[in-house]
Amino acid sequence: MSSVNIIIGSQMGSAEYVAEQLSEALNDQGISTQLHEQPEFNSIDQQNTTWLICTSTYGAGDYPDNLLSFIDDLSQVDDLTNLKYSVIGLGDTSYDTYNLAARKVDSLLASKGAIKVAQRLELNILDEALPEETALAWLASWLVESGLKQ
Ligand SMILES: Cc1cc2nc3c(=O)[nH]c(=O)nc-3n(C[C@H](O)[C@H](O)[C@H](O)COP(=O)(O)O)c2cc1C
Repeated sequence: MSSVNIIIGSQMGSAEYVAEQLSEALNDQGISTQLHEQPEFNSIDQQNTTWLICTSTYGAGDYPDNLLSFIDDLSQVDDLTNLKYSVIGLGDTSYDTYNLAARKVDSLLASKGAIKVAQRLELNILDEALPEETALAWLASWLVESGLKQ
């Protein structure tokens, strides 16, 4: 059965809410999901699954606090060539470091050989009254690109 591990980076809950909505939509399509609100790198399956990382950005392009230990562990791994992933970022274009956390984790995974199944989705909260609606619309094409749906 197809499965998606949804890895959340969020401080005020917006990215978490988007992740929860995507999880429900995937379940409705018969795809099992696991939401990781406090992600622990070593306890998340890498085989026969796709990782969907949904993160906001803080500070000067920093990761949200709840993602820091996950990123530390990820940074120390050499080979992720069997891992499929995609990234969704929530950010704000008034910052020079727009969506930098999403961009950084995307580059980090690619540098380890992980397989990007679709281009990153970047949501600018200044434009998005309901970021989850844009993410849900994106999900239909993502399911095809990722090979989870024909
Ligand atoms: C203190 C602070 C710093 C932020 N820094 C950035 C940033 O560097 N780049 C960016 O794109 N957005 C930045 N943002 C915007 C957040 O990423 C955006 O509001 C996001 O929707 C928050 O998601 P969350 O509720 O899941 O934490 C910042 C917001 C705050 C409050």
